[in-house]
Amino acid sequence: MCSIIGYKGQLNVASVLVDSLKRMEYRGYDSVGIATINNGKILVKKDVGRVADVNKSLDLGRMPGHTGIGHTRWATHGGVTDKNAHPHYGCTDRIAIVHNGIIENYRELREELIFLGHIFISDTDSEVIAHLLERYYAEQKNIKKTIIQTCRRLKGTYAFVAAFEDGTICGSRYDEPLIIGSVNNGYFISSDVLGFLEYTDKAVFLENRDIVIVDSETCHIFDLEGNIVNRPITKVAWELAAIDKGKYAHHTLKEIHEQPKIVEKTGTQNLKIQEFCNILTNSKTVLLTGSGTSYHSALIAKHILSKFAKIRAEAIMSSEFQYTFDAIDNTSVLIAISQSGETADVLQSVKAAKQMGARILSIVNNPTSSLARISDSSLSIDCGPEIGVAATKSFTAQLSLIYTIVDRLCKGCLDFEANKASLVDALRQVLDTEIQIHSIAEGLRDARDIYIIGRSIHYAIALEGALKIKELAYIHTEGIAAGELKHGPLALIDRNSYVLLVNPNDIASEDNISSAYEIKARGATIIGISDRPNNVYDIFIKIPSVKSTFYPIIEVLPFQILAYYLALAKNADPDYPRNLAKSVTVK
Ligand code: G6P
Repeated sequence: MCSIIGYKGQLNVASVLVDSLKRMEYRGYDSVGIATINNGKILVKKDVGRVADVNKSLDLGRMPGHTGIGHTRWATHGGVTDKNAHPHYGCTDRIAIVHNGIIENYRELREELIFLGHIFISDTDSEVIAHLLERYYAEQKNIKKTIIQTCRRLKGTYAFVAAFEDGTICGSRYDEPLIIGSVNNGYFISSDVLGFLEYTDKAVFLENRDIVIVDSETCHIFDLEGNIVNRPITKVAWELAAIDKGKYAHHTLKEIHEQPKIVEKTGTQNLKIQEFCNILTNSKTVLLTGSGTSYHSALIAKHILSKFAKIRAEAIMSSEFQYTFDAIDNTSVLIAISQSGETADVLQSVKAAKQMGARILSIVNNPTSSLARISDSSLSIDCGPEIGVAATKSFTAQLSLIYTIVDRLCKGCLDFEANKASLVDALRQVLDTEIQIHSIAEGLRDARDIYIIGRSIHYAIALEGALKIKELAYIHTEGIAAGELKHGPLALIDRNSYVLLVNPNDIASEDNISSAYEIKARGATIIGISDRPNNVYDIFIKIPSVKSTFYPIIEVLPFQILAYYLALAKNADPDYPRNLAKSVTVK
């Protein structure tokens, strides 16, 4: 989703902004723009495309000045065009803005401003912010009053930063992150700590409706009444080095290979895990929520919570949560799972549950994210920044933490700690199948439809495997509960179908083999993922045997590797797939 960066200081702003936008590329975007203020003039350059390409064609990095704002846009309102790219001016070039979020009342604001004589250039909702600022600034020439009046008019979600021709930058947020980074002789204002982490680890997280103004020397934060507010400085601990691709061709491949190490180090937050468990055991209703991959973790959590900790739980997709759940009160607990901790659907579910009295537990990868900060207790999966847009290592890290929590709840019945070494070894062995899976991917590159079949807990992995292939390789792939085949999907299977069967040796295994024969009878190619070979498989991907409860942690890897190589086979960029964003901060 959109990334925002603003900087005022002593460095040459343009190259700082270009580098910051590059570091936030992983969030997903379609166009790029920068505005710099120099000698009382604001200059804007913007275009469709990747940061490096637009930088090359427009020479962004050489724009003059020490103050400026930058943006990568993920189109919501208005097509992917240079005119819709940010920054946006008002009617003149005296104010420019960059925005993330959706201004819900932009139509009425636009009409009102057009009536007053403002001329709009773009089709975006964002442009109204520039015109509102322009309107109120013309009336009183006071930036603080101007931004307060502007924010009072906005409905919806926003994080924006504005640049004024006098060299001031200012911004505000509502339900979209905006963070200040403080450096010697200057300040950053960004949507993501990665925007400034190369320069400082001192961050100030703005609260909803906070207003920040950085003028000649100072940075002040105000509330909507104009009172100064103090927000604490947080030291952010992410290591920039982890953003490097190392010896790998893509971040996604590097992150897939990091998984054994990540599982190895799970469970170090002992006291916090205990706090989590105490809240869980004292609640009557346990709900789980998440989006995409994190929802699949929620499905696995539901399964093992009930089976081993004897806690009945319900897993609901965050985008469906608001339509589904009313039976929540102060005896309920909601476990929200989100790698980024910024997914709008997840945050909305959490706010709704919180209002109804539920306690909120969260599992995040970013301990300073919005989700972590609104939770009663939050655990970090601690797997380092995940740059590949499709989640890989964060999924296994989530599972690993979930198994640790459930093990604590059932007083060690899973023996997770004792099994960890063999699990880590098993993950390494699965990574050794990479060459085989690479050649399988070459064979599947022209597949029109792929089906992934699994039973019981493995159904969640079938869903996750299908999501990976959809996300990275743009092939229609469906995860199907094996027992449901006979209730409809079997009609789709013919000799052109490819079916992957998640079938490790456990109680569901024999039933899966029966399903495989039904599929084979219809001529499909069957790829078995199992620790035991079987004649029904046309292709066999061997995974090692582990304690049966832990198979989900290892059996997802072949799908990640397959999705990665399918993307390469189809000339798609596995790190930045089309139409996907890492941090989906709009509903
Ligand atoms: C987006 C990504 C998915 C991801 C989902 C949840 O849709 O494209 O890959 O699984 O968000 O992200 P979260 O940060 O909440 O785990």
